[in-house]
Amino acid sequence: GSLPVANVQELAEACNNGVDGKVPERYLSKDPSAEEVVAGDDSACAIPVIDLRRLLDAQSSEEECAKLASACHDWGFFQLINHGVPDEVIRNLMSDVAGFFEQPLEAKKECSQQADSLEGYGQAFVVSDDQKLDWADMLYLQVHPSESRDMRFWPTRPESFRQLAYSLLEFMAKGVGADPASLRGVFEGQAQGMRVNYYPPCRRAADRVVGLSPHTDPNGLTLLLQMSHGDVQGLQVKKDGRWFAVRALDGAFVVNVADALEIVSNGLFRSVEHRAVIHPTRERISVALFHYPYQDRMLCPLPELVKKGGGARYGPTSYRDFLTQYFTAQLDGRKHLERLKLDC
Ligand code: SIN
Ligand code: FE2
Repeated sequence: GSLPVANVQELAEACNNGVDGKVPERYLSKDPSAEEVVAGDDSACAIPVIDLRRLLDAQSSEEECAKLASACHDWGFFQLINHGVPDEVIRNLMSDVAGFFEQPLEAKKECSQQADSLEGYGQAFVVSDDQKLDWADMLYLQVHPSESRDMRFWPTRPESFRQLAYSLLEFMAKGVGADPASLRGVFEGQAQGMRVNYYPPCRRAADRVVGLSPHTDPNGLTLLLQMSHGDVQGLQVKKDGRWFAVRALDGAFVVNVADALEIVSNGLFRSVEHRAVIHPTRERISVALFHYPYQDRMLCPLPELVKKGGGARYGPTSYRDFLTQYFTAQLDGRKHLERLKLDC
């Protein structure tokens, strides 16, 4: 597990309401606003919208699969609409997780991370005593396989979103002309985790704290839900060296390609750097559902995509080693992934 650090929700309350509520130095980064950010309300900057209904409809499927494959290559991110998960399921999940953070600290602490694991309530990605810290608390839960659910940490039992992820993997494979079962096969039946991110407001220094440092996700595919509190945007995605603020459509999933999928797709799909920023007066909650490959599996590009791409672009690694690397270093963009790249 990570080194114990302050509870950010409590810290934020003290900083926001105190007469002299200084944000501690450890949370202040150099100057995140120095980088250009493209606002999310400019329609030209919206991440692509993919329609599951069109993927499933024989008439439009081919066209939508191609659009999906381009989105996964150009952005590594898309919004999924008409996904078939009832609004009520999403609303219940979001209100359960919001309810968790509304509890007094003592109650939340009953779900605290243990020393040897990332599961539970606390802060992830803390690897040294002097690193900068993110302005967020997290609750991480292992969701699948169901035998690995540690009920000590569970405030709620969300529905499984696995089938949705599997169908998307099939359509992605189709979109690049590969066997639909090929990508799905890497992740099917494997573990799934859920991380709830709680970003408190930061009245005095919202533009100098970072909610979640720039990173890529290590797993295969991530489905993200955000609490729609009016217009509170937080997620930003890097494209062509610029940060784009993501404005998600109401009720849509934001889906992103993660590292293991970039590797098995031989780089046809890209695991793109993203971060979360903080609002001065409003909290934000997001729920990320991570789909993992088999831990002992050697990750390498699928043979049929190696042939297409004129060679393997990534060296093999076991997913277990890859994860260990990921969690023992500070979040730092794509560095851990770039190390696997081969010249070809
Ligand atoms: C994440 O990258 O896991 C979360 C991003 C967000 O909170 O929007
Ligand atoms: Fe992420």
